[in-house]
Amino acid sequence: MGQVWREFASPEGLAEAFADDVAQRLEATIRERGAASLAVSGGTTPKQFFRALSRKPIAWEKVTVTLVDERFVPPTHERSNEKLVREILLTRAARSARFLPLYSDTATPEDAAEQTSALLAKAGLPLDVAVLGMGTDGHTASIFPDASIREALLDPASRKTVMAVHAPSAGEPRLTLPLARIVDARHLALHIEGREKRRVLENALEQDAALPIADILRHAPHAEVWWAPAKDEIR
Ligand code: 6PG
Repeated sequence: MGQVWREFASPEGLAEAFADDVAQRLEATIRERGAASLAVSGGTTPKQFFRALSRKPIAWEKVTVTLVDERFVPPTHERSNEKLVREILLTRAARSARFLPLYSDTATPEDAAEQTSALLAKAGLPLDVAVLGMGTDGHTASIFPDASIREALLDPASRKTVMAVHAPSAGEPRLTLPLARIVDARHLALHIEGREKRRVLENALEQDAALPIADILRHAPHAEVWWAPAKDEIR
């Protein structure tokens, strides 16, 4: 599908190079347009990258940080992506960035999606930089293979900004940007680690599989794939 692969010998090497790359892109955007936006994913993979990025001395006060997806849990919850980002990314130099949460304390995730959509649209779309992760089931953001509204999430013509997702495999209800907002990002990167995820991704791409990650990359030839072996796979 034409995506560029950036491969590293270790997660540490990847985290540093990736943080440099994202910081440079944000800085260039600020120089051109006075402000920049960055949407990141949750999960375990991005932690080292967040730590490295939080130290980059850029004009963070001109950066809006948001999430590609969120679990519908309050920001004090262990599974909250907001908690992860606040504790690891929005520290050190990056403390002065503005954070736009996807979660809000509403009765339903649908209400939260509506509320956050308005805020995100006002903050300025398309996103300048979006960073995705991927699960071994081929989900990315919170676009799960068994999502009840999978087709709507993957509609390339969708005008939606944030959508509520219910999927048995997700654990809890989610909020996510749909495919259309993700592939709209001026720069899109997929960050995965470990041989198993690599195999899943290569299979999905080679066989044009019906997996959310394959749909996204099919619509995002400009995306970059950042890969390193998992820590326990390094000899
Ligand atoms: C989330 C994510 C999700 C994540 C993948 C990979 O909130 O769950 O944004 O899409 O990126 O599940 O997660 P790991 O890095 O933990 O494997």
